[in-house]
Amino acid sequence: MTGKPFEPAANVSLQSRNTLRLPAEAAWYARAGDVTELRRALDWADRQDLPVLLLGGGSNLVLAGDFPGLVLRVSLGGRCWSGVDNGSAILEVGAGENWHETVMYSVRSGYRGLENLALIPGTVGAAPIQNIGAYGVELSHALVDVSVWDREQGAERVLTCEECAFGYRDSLFKRQPERYVVLKVRLRLSKRAPLRLGYRDLEEFFDGQAIDALTAEDVAQAVIQVRSRKLPDPDFLPNAGSFFKNPVVSLAQFESLQQRFPDIVAYVGQDSAKLAAGWLIDQCGWKGHRDAHVGVHNRQALVLVHHGDGQGGELLGLASRIRDDVQARYSVALEVEPRIFPVSMREEFRF
Ligand code: EPU
Repeated sequence: MTGKPFEPAANVSLQSRNTLRLPAEAAWYARAGDVTELRRALDWADRQDLPVLLLGGGSNLVLAGDFPGLVLRVSLGGRCWSGVDNGSAILEVGAGENWHETVMYSVRSGYRGLENLALIPGTVGAAPIQNIGAYGVELSHALVDVSVWDREQGAERVLTCEECAFGYRDSLFKRQPERYVVLKVRLRLSKRAPLRLGYRDLEEFFDGQAIDALTAEDVAQAVIQVRSRKLPDPDFLPNAGSFFKNPVVSLAQFESLQQRFPDIVAYVGQDSAKLAAGWLIDQCGWKGHRDAHVGVHNRQALVLVHHGDGQGGELLGLASRIRDDVQARYSVALEVEPRIFPVSMREEFRF
């Protein structure tokens, strides 16, 4: 590849670049605004055998130490419509675009499909990694395909929704974290798809209102209000959203738990049950708990917060105490949702 030499910045603070506002430094830092810049940066890191951390909005990240390699902010932009036909359309969005702004753009254009996913922090490129989900909808419900740079094959590829192997807060990208860089996603939206109002919080919000008259934008505004009531705004109280996944257990385990704890909250499926981790943590008495610099949010026990001047290690220490408590009381293993760096800290705290 020709062009200007790649010159990343050295020793860059990441504190303002992660929504938990944890202090950490990148040995090297650069932005990639297009595929050429991205390839140049990846080639540079590969030549020196340096690890690469791809950064979107930094909203699903726990930094518990400095990063010894290249932190790469993927900022590929752009939004356009294609395949507009008879009330449905495909929205193509670059990985660096803001997710919430994309949702609002789609609903204001009169399209349905993304409204339940309003106000989720982060970028479009991060959305498929953990298959973002809220209020009964997951990204995979609207996703057509994902364009990626495949570092193993050294080529641009398009992965269909099926190939992305999405599950609850899970995807191919999580299972092979070094391999793919998301460049663009394509979403199928529709003007006539039914609105999804079955989640309890939304049902309560619209109780008594004429559902037929609602627009996708009304639902997005409701989601914004419901989320704002429960979840702290990272700009005011740094956090990374849900710190743990809701654990999925067998129906037999759920039934035995329910006998001992009749109030346990779960979403029961055909072959398994997803337990509300927030309820389990809350019942163990952690809601509103505060250590010196870190704590548990006082309105949603699933969200850990950083009150300032803390370190990632303190947060992981708190998370491991919560995990051990839930394990001891309910025999249920909690799994951390955000990515943890460096890997040594993940191992130290057994996450
Ligand atoms: N609950 C408690 N105490 C708490 C928190 C929750 O008893 O402190 C109970 C609630 O009363 C409710 C149940 O647990 O009955 C579930 O709570 P909620 O509806 O707030 O949802 P959640 O399961 O805790 C999930 C997602 C959120 C998403 C909401 C809404 C995960 C890990 N989290 O939370 O996603 O916004 O549903 O759909 O799946 C995120 O991923 O960062 C995130 C915020």
